[in-house]
Amino acid sequence: MEPVLTVEAHPGALGAEMSLAGKRALVTGAASGIGRAVAQHLSRLGAQVAFSDIDPKPLYELTKGLSGASTVVADLAVAAQVVHLAQVAGPVDILVNNAGLQRKVGPAAGGDADRSVPADQVPDPRDV
Ligand SMILES: NC(=O)c1ccc[n+]([C@@H]2O[C@H](COP(=O)([O-])OP(=O)(O)OC[C@H]3O[C@@H](n4cnc5c(N)ncnc54)[C@H](O)[C@@H]3O)[C@@H](O)[C@H]2O)c1
Repeated sequence: MEPVLTVEAHPGALGAEMSLAGKRALVTGAASGIGRAVAQHLSRLGAQVAFSDIDPKPLYELTKGLSGASTVVADLAVAAQVVHLAQVAGPVDILVNNAGLQRKVGPAAGGDADRSVPADQVPDPRDV
């Protein structure tokens, strides 16, 4: 079967290098794992990337020497800090809303359930 999509036929697709110069990106959960890899890749492609996480130390280490990179420390389980993040990061072209917990939460797992934000307290981005 003939391949439907090839990198040669579509420069910029499937991992071929492309330029994100002039684009602004915000990556949450950027201090480790998937978020860190995505934020670093966007930065290497030339985007101005805001690295955001609840954990400040790795953020500063990660963005040292990265051109156009900035850091915003925010706990996304706290509505006021979500608003702060949106204000500081400003309008972005690319949003990677990746922050999260992989482990189980709730009383059976030791009680992190109170870190969730009630639906009626999640700010509407249009109000920021
Ligand atoms: N790795 C997997 O197999 C997998 C599978 C399904 C979903 N996911 C989801 O993908 C995302 C990334 O996963 P990962 O494996 O890279 O996890 P990770 O734990 O390596 O990274 C998650 C990051 O989110 C940050 N974070 C956690 N709670 C936060 C909060 N309240 N505010 C701000 N930052 C917070 C952490 O500090 C951490 O740096 C998570 O949302 C996870 O639930 C991962």
